[in-house]
Amino acid sequence: MRVLVTGTAGFIGFHLARRLLARGDEVVGVDGFTPYYDLSLKRARQAELERHQAFRSHEILLEDLAALTQVFETGFDLVYHFAAQAGVRYSLENPRAYVDANLVGTYNLLELMRHKPPRHALLASTSSVYGANASIPFFETDHADHPLTFYAATKKANEEMAHAYSHLFKIPVTMLRFFTVYGPWGRPDMALFKFVSAMLADRPIDLYNYGKMRRDFTFIDDLVEAMVRLAPVAPPHLSTRPQPAIEGDSLSPQAPWRVVNIGAGSPIDLEAFVEATELALGCKAQRNYMDMQQGDVPVTFANTDLLFRLTGYRPATSIHDGVPVFVEWYRDYFRA
Ligand SMILES: NC(=O)c1ccc[n+]([C@@H]2O[C@H](COP(=O)([O-])OP(=O)(O)OC[C@H]3O[C@@H](n4cnc5c(N)ncnc54)[C@H](O)[C@@H]3O)[C@@H](O)[C@H]2O)c1
Repeated sequence: MRVLVTGTAGFIGFHLARRLLARGDEVVGVDGFTPYYDLSLKRARQAELERHQAFRSHEILLEDLAALTQVFETGFDLVYHFAAQAGVRYSLENPRAYVDANLVGTYNLLELMRHKPPRHALLASTSSVYGANASIPFFETDHADHPLTFYAATKKANEEMAHAYSHLFKIPVTMLRFFTVYGPWGRPDMALFKFVSAMLADRPIDLYNYGKMRRDFTFIDDLVEAMVRLAPVAPPHLSTRPQPAIEGDSLSPQAPWRVVNIGAGSPIDLEAFVEATELALGCKAQRNYMDMQQGDVPVTFANTDLLFRLTGYRPATSIHDGVPVFVEWYRDYFRA
């Protein structure tokens, strides 16, 4: 398989690329090494991937259509698109970064796929698109039309843009809605990374909404497993639809396009997550209770039945197994 992975210097793209390389795929990586967080971590991930002969990479921004066109010259069997301006909170400070990377960047990629369609394109979306959705768990077929942050709005726009391209140019597309992913090589702006670095430095940790939050924390290996299993299950074209339809399928009535949740399917209280971190680190956290942040939601909870029906798999790693794996990596990486 010849696979394009965008965002290979990022947390999720790195892990997925590493898994594909291990099974013998040829992986072409694209990453713009944006300075949103510590570039040395992105360089270190990249260096890990470069140990594989079958990895080629391009340090370019998605907005640079000419450069991206060259990368796309020969086309790909599969495309995994993760490169984006991520982060809910940063979208209050710098919304423009989301327009450039998420809207223009994804549009450029879609344009190239229009001329050289892959067998399947899998694009990162987010649980944030459920926004003000009051009913839990979140089903892919729920209305998700009220984003609470500009980050979520750009990701929802990506879903719709991809739908139109899928319909017009017959590109099979799966939109992947991720739920708070954690694990080794994780993102420094996310909870577990921030908790561990603060606790090791004897600094307090910030708990928003006075700790009354529940998140569907998903371990990175589970996410990768789900994404690998989804690749052969491209949404069918209209002429080849199986009957009866899959129960709860989000498959579009017009296009080979669907949305799939990938989450643990078991929301965890923030306090319990902190306790698991304390146990793994062997030290107590000083808690700094804070107000709810603008645009935040108190709970995320994935229904994973569709993922299971499509792949026979659903994430199963508990925080008691996953958090210590992160802590071990952190201590080793930072010699902490
Ligand atoms: N980590 C999570 O919990 C989570 C949850 C929901 C959705 N997501 C989505 O998953 C995807 C991957 O997230 P991640 O956690 O690996 O984030 P990340 O920030 O670690 O990785 C994104 C990568 O994209 C690159 N990038 C950013 N803008 C770019 C541009 N304009 N051109 C080229 N490269 C660019 C960055 O340099 C980075 O290496 C993103 O689309 C994100 O929105 C992540």
